[in-house]
Amino acid sequence: MAKPSLFYLSAAFVFLSVSSSLSARPPNPPIHDTFLQCLTQHANSTTPLADIVFDNTNPKFPIVLANYIRNAGFNTSSTTKPLLIVTPMVESHVQAAVLCAKSANVQLRIRSGGHDYEGLSYISPKPFILLDMSNLRTITVDVKNELAVVQAGAILGELYYRIWEKSKVHGFSAAVCPTVGVGGHISGGGYGTMLRKYGLSVDNVIDAQIVDVKGNLLNRKTMGEDLFWAIRGGGGASFGVIVSFTIKIVPVPETVTFFRVDRTLEQNATDLVLQWQQVAPTTDDRLFMRLLLSPSGKTATASVVALFLGGANELLPILDKQFPLLGLKKENCTEGRWIDSVIWFDDEEAFEKGAKPEVLLERNPNWALFLKRKSDYVQNAIPREGLELLWKTIIEMGKTGLAFNPYGGKMSQILPDATPFPHRKGNLFKIQYSVTWSDPSPAAAQNFLNQTRVLYSVMTPYVSKNPRSAFLNYRDIDIGTNSFGKNSFEEGEVYGAKYFNANFQRLVKVKTAVDPENFFAYEQSIPVSPTKA
Ligand SMILES: Cc1cc2nc3c(=O)[nH]c(=O)nc-3n(C[C@H](O)[C@H](O)[C@H](O)COP(=O)(O)OP(=O)(O)OC[C@H]3O[C@@H](n4cnc5c(N)ncnc54)[C@H](O)[C@@H]3O)c2cc1C
Ligand SMILES: *[C@@H]1O[C@H](CO)[C@@H](O)[C@H](O)[C@H]1NC(C)=O
Ligand SMILES: *[C@@H]1O[C@H](CO)[C@@H](O)[C@H](O)[C@H]1NC(C)=O
Ligand SMILES: *[C@@H]1O[C@H](CO)[C@@H](O)[C@H](O)[C@H]1NC(C)=O
Ligand SMILES: *[C@@H]1O[C@H](CO)[C@@H](O)[C@H](O)[C@H]1NC(C)=O
Ligand SMILES: *[C@@H]1O[C@H](CO)[C@@H](O)[C@H](O)[C@H]1NC(C)=O
Repeated sequence: MAKPSLFYLSAAFVFLSVSSSLSARPPNPPIHDTFLQCLTQHANSTTPLADIVFDNTNPKFPIVLANYIRNAGFNTSSTTKPLLIVTPMVESHVQAAVLCAKSANVQLRIRSGGHDYEGLSYISPKPFILLDMSNLRTITVDVKNELAVVQAGAILGELYYRIWEKSKVHGFSAAVCPTVGVGGHISGGGYGTMLRKYGLSVDNVIDAQIVDVKGNLLNRKTMGEDLFWAIRGGGGASFGVIVSFTIKIVPVPETVTFFRVDRTLEQNATDLVLQWQQVAPTTDDRLFMRLLLSPSGKTATASVVALFLGGANELLPILDKQFPLLGLKKENCTEGRWIDSVIWFDDEEAFEKGAKPEVLLERNPNWALFLKRKSDYVQNAIPREGLELLWKTIIEMGKTGLAFNPYGGKMSQILPDATPFPHRKGNLFKIQYSVTWSDPSPAAAQNFLNQTRVLYSVMTPYVSKNPRSAFLNYRDIDIGTNSFGKNSFEEGEVYGAKYFNANFQRLVKVKTAVDPENFFAYEQSIPVSPTKA
């Protein structure tokens, strides 16, 4: 790959970026042609480059764009559209795309699986090019050394499937939803049903490849430990384009157990939740019991949805002793292989109907509902009055629910500055506020967004403070955004402290060193240091 040369087309790009409006524009052949020429100059490739660059005159443009839109709220005619979409097939395409977007003076949005809750991987307030990583999806699994190399555009379902193909006693610690993309998920922290045993995805990353702002393709050794630290939880898109991660695959037993228990308020759900708060964050680290709280008509339901890395005969005595209110019996448990638990967690109904591991390979392109998510951390058990207020609020509102994800176990053993993800010891569980709807009207959106914000406000006394912490992968623009102008650092400190606590300062240092001109900027990126900007 050639080194960057000052690119003679810059002037044309600057002109274009100034004259482009944010909404749909008439066909813009110049940027397409100049960008393509630039790519040709910089990319070492046998693929015809015209096949990987789409402008809005290309009939495939709307499909390529929508394929990995996962929030229907950002799939409207008024949603800002990219000037171009680039779908790299090999590393050198990524390197060239960075250089060419930079010399064109347009923003780059990087998208792997497109699951960003706020669509920040594929929308932008400024003219931008969308770098869609979905073709870079190779996965190599090395069971002997318990490693896998996974490219950013792979989805987690593919990763789980490829591991399972080679070994029935290995898995990986990452999200439940199989269509989530590796690039955003892992660089943003990444957690799933094994976090109490194995920590986050980032706790199991041992190497990575990234393309930096100069177009260099770096690995752990050549990027250095600071940048390697930053991209394990700090969000990749502030620092460059992640091409792949090398991960440790983790041992899982041949037989695991999963179960679900539902209780309404009339069935003493409040007592169940009170006991859950004592047990779920402290129990055996092979046991992950997610708690879902949701309104159901005039009442509400608490559901415990759980994975145990072991057989039911070992699980039942643990729960009998620690969590008697659950009243779990053997007939309430399903035993299966780890891969079965993955299918079940994603879709219990499909599992009951006999879905095979191949379902994990389904990408379900161009499919989305409307949604909003927010997050909180709980460090002291919520008292009965708090739960009663919570129930009352969700029943009145009617649709917004919560998921409590227990921490403890391995999560408490990892120091808060080992990775940018700071929410370790002392956190009992994380809350996700969640509402999903299908009515496309603006009134529906306003109502449901409002519900999550009202509930968030009601929960203030019961959650972390100073800062009120949040989880980066549960992207929420309500907690602050950046306009990447003069106040970029002050704006960044607001959401940065919530996502990263004290690690924010180190992220700023790394950012300032690797991308001092802030090319990789977006609404919640890490800002550069004001003293070095
Ligand atoms: C249905 C659903 C279920 C989820 N379940 C979980 C869960 O169980 N656990 C959990 O931790 N999270 C979960 N999430 C959140 C998810 O982890 C994040 O949304 C994650 O960022 C998605 O990664 P992606 O590649 O699909 O997203 P994208 O939208 O493609 O990217 C998200 C962010 O990462 C950046 N990015 C993406 N690829 C790259 C790259 N190659 N290089 C640099 N930056 C990049 C983007 O620019 C953007 O800022 C879920 C999300 C959804 C929609
Ligand atoms: C281009 O790619 C080929 C095959 O991967 C490689 O042998 C060659 O060295 C590369 N050239 C440059 C300039 O990077
Ligand atoms: C709920 O708790 C009450 C009081 O402890 C008890 O009498 C009742 O049996 C419980 N109901 C259920 C369904 O467990
Ligand atoms: C367990 O299964 C039995 C029999 O199917 C059922 O009656 C009971 O309600 C279940 N218990 C729980 C806790 O779900
Ligand atoms: C986006 O909108 C188009 C047109 O209404 C629709 O066909 C498509 O299914 C939508 N895709 C997503 C991901 O919402
Ligand atoms: C938001 O919800 C609250 C509580 O349900 C309600 O009182 C308020 O009117 C709502 N506001 C908007 C703008 O919908």
